Amino acid sequence: MKSDTPLQLLGGLTAQEFLRDYWQKKPLLIRQAFTDFDNPISPDELAGLSLEEEVESRIVIENGERPWEMRRGPFAEDTYSSLPETEWTLLVQAVDQFVPEVAALLESFRFLPSWRIDDVMISYATPGGGVGPHFDNYDVFLLQGHGKRNWKVGQMCNSDSPLIEHSDLRILADFEQAEEWVLEPGDMLYLPPRIAHCGVAVDECMTYSVGFRAPSAAEVLTHFTDFLSQFLPDEDRYSDADAKPVSDPHQIQHDALDRLKGLLAEHMSDERLLLTWFGQFMTEPRYPELVAGSEVEEEDLLGGLEDGAVLIRNPSARLAWSEVDDDLLLFASGQSRLLPGHLRDLLKLICAADALHIDNLGPWLQDENGRMLVCELIKQGSLGFADE
Ligand code: SIN
Ligand code: CO
Repeated sequence: MKSDTPLQLLGGLTAQEFLRDYWQKKPLLIRQAFTDFDNPISPDELAGLSLEEEVESRIVIENGERPWEMRRGPFAEDTYSSLPETEWTLLVQAVDQFVPEVAALLESFRFLPSWRIDDVMISYATPGGGVGPHFDNYDVFLLQGHGKRNWKVGQMCNSDSPLIEHSDLRILADFEQAEEWVLEPGDMLYLPPRIAHCGVAVDECMTYSVGFRAPSAAEVLTHFTDFLSQFLPDEDRYSDADAKPVSDPHQIQHDALDRLKGLLAEHMSDERLLLTWFGQFMTEPRYPELVAGSEVEEEDLLGGLEDGAVLIRNPSARLAWSEVDDDLLLFASGQSRLLPGHLRDLLKLICAADALHIDNLGPWLQDENGRMLVCELIKQGSLGFADE
């Protein structure tokens, strides 16, 4: 995608302008980001998903058994008949993993790295429904799918912002309204992390939240150091072969800190390990149980493709690639593979193509590394045959 083309999705801004002026900085309301938006999933289908075991869902009832009562799915069919007429919301996570037409919405966001995208959450709300004023630690595009929703945005928050006492929801005690809009189908509101917001359904409505993921500094440090420690031998320790006699044996001198800083810097600056960890971490599937592989022999794969079989990416898999010197790293659902540089276009194809078949894979199947890679991805569950 060219970064200097004005995009309807961004209200006529180019990707470059949006990233420069709004991304992670300030809200942007985009009227008709999707013109003639064709709502890909109905309220009934969304409610149907919330009955499924593998789908994460919640219902928030403003005046339930207690204020802002939250119930977790999976729900039973009769859950819905027992709810009040108004002022409740159903929220279903990661609908993109279950409904291809919802996953297709993400194609419009390809000006951002795909490994930054978390999921598409969809909410259905009855009139007056909402989840209360809150902030999220992530960027989000709130696309109105059906009906109207009133959005108010407020102050920048942080972990010290006062919350009401609630065991399940993080509802702000104070909301300082700055702006307010009513969104109609196809309209979209971009919100940077930590900005207070509050959406209330004007009529029965559906909102699609395209949410992004960014690991916290605490996650980066704990996960990366755990990963790194697997490669460090026990004898690699704090060392002070440069020590001088001490004046007070009970004092920790600052030269000890310098040695520690040296030890940390030496290990933390290994770019290849950092990249390997990061790629694996960012491609970890949200639902690993949905990335189940199947056995396949190279011969059967080739035969199948020649007979017209089609491979597709598992919607629960996450894929990314990177360069290391002259080689490539492919990250697939939390695992990494070092591959020769000549496979670059194959990796791009596997990460991006809607479907893999003899026409686009053909030449790569002549290559031993290419063939093996496709087979391994099937065995691992990141790729699968379209009819399975
Ligand atoms: C919603 O769709 O009701 C909630 C989305 C959000 O505020 O993050
Ligand atoms: Co929110």
